[in-house]
Parts: sequence; C-alpha cells; structure tokens
Amino acid sequence: MGCCQSEEEIPANFTEEVNLAHFDLICAIGRGAYGKVKLVCHKQSKIQYALKYIDKQQCISQKAVDYIIQERNLLEDIHCPFVCNLRYSFQDDENMFMVMDMKLGGDLRYALTRKGKMKEDAAKFIFAELCLGIIYLHSKKVVHRDLKPENILLDEHGHACLTDFNIATYFKNTKLMHAIAGSLSYMAPEILDKEKKGYDQTIDWWSLGIVLYEMLFGKVLVVIPLKERNLVLLFQRPFRGKTDNELEDLIRKAIFTIPVEPLISEECADIIKRLLIKPYTNRLGSKDTGGDLEITGHAWLKGYDWTQLENLEVTPIYVPDAKKLNVDETIELEELLFSDKQLKAKPRKIEKRSSTKPTESKTPLSPLEKISSKFKLFDFTKLPEQCKVRKRSAAWDEKLSKIQQHSTSRVSLASNISDLYETRSQYVLFEPDAMTIRSAKSVQSSLSSLNSVSDAKNTKHAMPEIPLHFKKNTEYDESVDMAISQASRE
Ligand SMILES: Nc1ncnc2c1ncn2[C@@H]1O[C@H](COP(=O)(O)OP(=O)(O)O)[C@@H](O)[C@H]1O
Ligand SMILES: [Mg+2]
Repeated sequence: MGCCQSEEEIPANFTEEVNLAHFDLICAIGRGAYGKVKLVCHKQSKIQYALKYIDKQQCISQKAVDYIIQERNLLEDIHCPFVCNLRYSFQDDENMFMVMDMKLGGDLRYALTRKGKMKEDAAKFIFAELCLGIIYLHSKKVVHRDLKPENILLDEHGHACLTDFNIATYFKNTKLMHAIAGSLSYMAPEILDKEKKGYDQTIDWWSLGIVLYEMLFGKVLVVIPLKERNLVLLFQRPFRGKTDNELEDLIRKAIFTIPVEPLISEECADIIKRLLIKPYTNRLGSKDTGGDLEITGHAWLKGYDWTQLENLEVTPIYVPDAKKLNVDETIELEELLFSDKQLKAKPRKIEKRSSTKPTESKTPLSPLEKISSKFKLFDFTKLPEQCKVRKRSAAWDEKLSKIQQHSTSRVSLASNISDLYETRSQYVLFEPDAMTIRSAKSVQSSLSSLNSVSDAKNTKHAMPEIPLHFKKNTEYDESVDMAISQASRE
C-alpha cells in the first residue's frame, strides 16, 4: 500500500451533465498551438470522437482565454458538412474540453507528408469542398484566419472540412480587421501590410490559394547552406524565406512562380494566380470581383455539380487508408513519454461560477473565473430533435426578394411564396442554422399575414409548423481582436 493517496478517477454517470468520465480515452492524435487532441469513445453511445483539450493555466499564460471561448461559441453556431462539428463542450478544474466529430482520414498535412503531392483532380476536389466551407463561414460573417493543411481534416472517404477556430472571428461588412493573426506562411499580404490599412474576409481565399499550391507541387529538395545537413525536403510554397522577416517581405511583394513540374492545366494556374493577387480588392473572391460565389464559377471548377458536392454526393478522388489511423504515431509516443500530466476524469473542486451579466458586477472576472462562466457546457444530444427543414438561406432569400419584386398583386405574391416554400427542398444544403430558421420564419409570417387579409382562395397556402430549435449565439466579441493584436505585439 502506498503512502501517497492518488486521486481516484470518477466513474461515468450518464444522469449527470457531460464530463470526461463519459469517454474512454484511446490515444493522442494531434496537437496544436493551444490544444491537444485525443481519440475518445463515448462510453454509452460507443461513438468515436476527437477530444480537444486545453490546459487552463497554459491558456491563461498564452493569453488565449478569449480565443478559446470564442472558438467554442463559434462552433456552436456553425452547422455545415465542410466544417468539423462540435458535439460537446465542458470543463473541469484543469482543462477546457471540446468534443468534435472524429475525422478518420487525418489532417491534410498528414496526407501530403505521406503522399508528397496530389494529382490535379484530387486537389481540385478537396479545394472545391473547402470553397463550400469558406463560403458558408463567410455567409455567417465568420472569417477563419488560419487556413492551412494542419487545420483541414479528411474523413475516411476523403471528404474535406475545416477545423481549428482558435483565431476565427466574426466580421462586419462595414469594418476592416487589423489584428495580425494566422500562420505566417499562409498569411495574406494585407495582414502584414506596414501601413496597416486593414483586411477583410478575402484573406481566407489567399490562404486557400497557398494550400492549393502545396497540394499540387508537394515537396522539393531545398539547399540550406548554413545547416549541417544542408539538403532538406520541404513543401513547395509560392513564398519561402530563410527568416520570418524575409518571408514577410516576399509575401508583401507577392511575386511568385508556378513550377514547371508537375505540369498543371492553364485553368488551374489561373485560379492560383487570381487567389494570390496582392491588392485584395482585385483578388478572386473579394467583394469587388464578385464575392465568394465568383470562385465556384471559375473555369477550373466548371463541371462540378455544386448541389451534389454540397450534399456530399460526389465521390472523393483521394481516399485515405481506411486500415489505419491516419495520424502521426509519434504524437502518442511523445505524450506517453514526455507529458507530465496524464488526462484523467476528476471531480471538480472549484465551485462552478454561473454567468454574471456585466451590469450585475463591476469587478472584472479573473481569467479563471472568465473560463468558468463563459466556456459554456454544450451537449448536442440535449438539443431538440433535428429540424427537417433545410435550405441555403442566401439562395432562398435571393429568390424570395425576386418574387417580392416581381409579384404584381398580393394574391400572386402569396401564391409565389407558397410555391417557393414547397420547392424548398431544392435549397437543401446544410444543417439548419439560425439564418435558415429566420428566413423560413419570415416567409411563414409574411404568408400568414397575407392569408389573414386574403379570401378563402389562399387557404391552400397554409404553412406547416417550422420547429424553431437552434438558438443564435453570435455575440461579436471585439475583445478577441484586441487580445490577438496585443498578443502578436508581445
Ligand atoms: N476532429 C478531428 N479529427 C481528427 N483529427 C483531429 C480533429 N481535430 C483535430 N485533429 C488533429 O489535431 C490537430 C490539432 O487540432 P487543432 O484543432 O488544429 O488544435 P490547435 O488549435 O491547437 O491547432 C489537427 O491538426 C489534427 O491533426
Ligand atoms: Mg490547428
């Protein structure tokens, strides 16, 4: 019998709020700037998930509390097949936890490291799916800001999605962003601009251009004169400097070449060049060149049925190896050998602090209190039954406004809106979200007000009830941008 009493792991109790004891921890599969990621299995449902956990003390010393809270809030608000879903969030005394859908194909960096490079059609498919993810995020007024192969995940079939919303933020159409945020190699020149004129969501298209370049051209032998082993295999990127300062300069100048090997189509070269245009107002995807949807109309992508792509009905070309876990095995090994803290479900000692409204208390919260009150619990199984009505709000709203403009009378308006409502399955795309619900609700209310003033002819347009399940959680938190600028200055 030992003299030290080690803390007992708590057993799973499924009548309690979700907590770490509800999961079997299988192995470490990833790590990033702030978090570590483990493959876990829910003890009751037996579903495997990726558990991202962030050490509270480390997060506080990295001044990253605001980002992590923002990441969790953003994820709750986003429902799209091309963005990795949040399923649960909770915390204990030491860590914050986000439980996400497990993507068995691993991240794109892993695929590129193993494969070297991708054929043009395989890269095009991943690119096209990521375009849909970015278009969706921008439609929700979210800019990702950290697009790179490490933050792009593949499922076991090879479908791609975006993850890691650490430095993502809400943007306003009327206000440029100024925080220096992202991973240098993928940062757009306007982020690094010395005059700091500001940037908008077009930065995500620049980063996707760099990712596409990397997918197509893979690794190349590079001579590094001052190193002992001076020949190294590195991923080809449009801009590569020996130092960060040199790289920044190259990105700012934004002149690059497209390698002759492997040969890519003219259309593919054209899309890369257009995504990597320096004045962002001239860049493909910017508001001034037609916006996000202009990308899907580019000649390189013609031939895709976008509705089929959106419904995951197009078969991926690059399919990850299904026989193994597509993760870097050294992560688990290093976790076992070098991690001083092993993750374990422990009872909470620190009392949970409920969210206080700013008016109730004038004293600012300490970082730990902030985490305790603002990193909120989330459990997707507790959401009401999934809404069956799905559609793409932008397309729906556009069609609705056209109908409103062209309808000559109230009765024809009512009839056209009703037809639109009945054909809504044409717009089936993503999981329901607040925007979808709002549009559907406004159609319903315009129609019911028309019904109430119109005669019995309109009774055939009676609307089915639309369940309103998803609450909106899109507080624009400017303190995150400020914190990021501050951290990047330090
Ligand atoms: N849902 C997931 N499925 C599979 N692997 C994942 C998942 N989420 C993250 N990973 C792996 O963990 C790594 C780090 O996760 P990420 O969310 O990017 O953390 P950080 O914010 O710390 O960078 C990723 O690059 C990826 O390799
Ligand atoms: Mg990451």
